Amino acid sequence: MQIVNSQISIEKTNHSRIKEQDINNSPFGKVFSDHMLVATYANDSWQEVKIIPYGNIPICPSLSVLHYGQAVFEGLKAYKSPMGKPLLFRLEANYKRINESAFRLCMPSIPEEIFIDGLKELIRLDVDWIPNQSDSTLYIRPIYFATDESIALRPANSYKFIVICCPTGTFYSAPVKLIVTDKYVRAFEGGTGATKCAGNYGGSFLADKEAKQQGYDNVLWLDGKEKKYIEECGTMNVAFVINDVVITPKLTGSILGGITRDSVLTLFRDMGVKVEERLISIDEVVKAYEMGNLSEAFGMGTAATIAHISTINYQGKDMILPTVDERKYASQVLQKLEDIKTGKITDPYGWVSQL
Ligand code: COI
Repeated sequence: MQIVNSQISIEKTNHSRIKEQDINNSPFGKVFSDHMLVATYANDSWQEVKIIPYGNIPICPSLSVLHYGQAVFEGLKAYKSPMGKPLLFRLEANYKRINESAFRLCMPSIPEEIFIDGLKELIRLDVDWIPNQSDSTLYIRPIYFATDESIALRPANSYKFIVICCPTGTFYSAPVKLIVTDKYVRAFEGGTGATKCAGNYGGSFLADKEAKQQGYDNVLWLDGKEKKYIEECGTMNVAFVINDVVITPKLTGSILGGITRDSVLTLFRDMGVKVEERLISIDEVVKAYEMGNLSEAFGMGTAATIAHISTINYQGKDMILPTVDERKYASQVLQKLEDIKTGKITDPYGWVSQL
């Protein structure tokens, strides 16, 4: 069925796949909802915006994104309130960030009517795909990439912006084990580390693979210049609780400005917790651990939400951190954040939007 909603044409699927899926128990990124939003940029303007059944898109071998990697993405989540109302968390922040990433990769900005209105329309259509179970959510993945059929080395003239959704359970099922690498770097000053460009993730896979081979979940990255200061862990920003102060690496330009990071810091400050955004060296963390002053470490990301870090390996030695029961900061802020996201408590920050 074809309907047109202002500028967005909608073609509904004739066969919903929802009954074939256990949406409350889906692993991250494997099951996709019935529809997707597709917008096309060509001839210097945004042309066509449509919602169509989720499915394949045509690619040709000369597709410019395959050659030069002009691709950025976002991640956000939809929740259900206790009354069953669909809620989106920090949609405007994701909108702002995708255009910042696009700017860095020389891509045209995406209009609000496409990102915000189009995404909301998509979620309205696939609202039944938002899980009902408290630890499951609908993860929304906007992607934006170059589509010139050309291998000319220049920013492309045509692009696609697509939004797909997947119901997903917890990203990390247990506290995470990280290993510090000084063999590889994720980013460096002046590079693309602060953006959510696809290459940042592809470029980290080898280090991640080696971390897993050694029994860790992921890498804890150090800065690209001195290999001294902690940056992030690739799937999430990180924070440490030392002497009851929450310390997180400041946004130096090579770290992703995480939206969960920003939310967590805001909540901590409003809870009266002392927060420091500054350079933090791995040596400082090791010293705090040795002195018994490192009580918690945790990650912050959309997919991961807040993930306790149980172990940090540096130069062959494991730092085993206190058990989750002994921690108070990350667990408290996680509860507060989840309550705001799901509409259980009032959102004084304007973070939550209704459809
Ligand atoms: C997110 O948290 O949304 C991300 O994009 C990071 C990645 C783990 C998928």
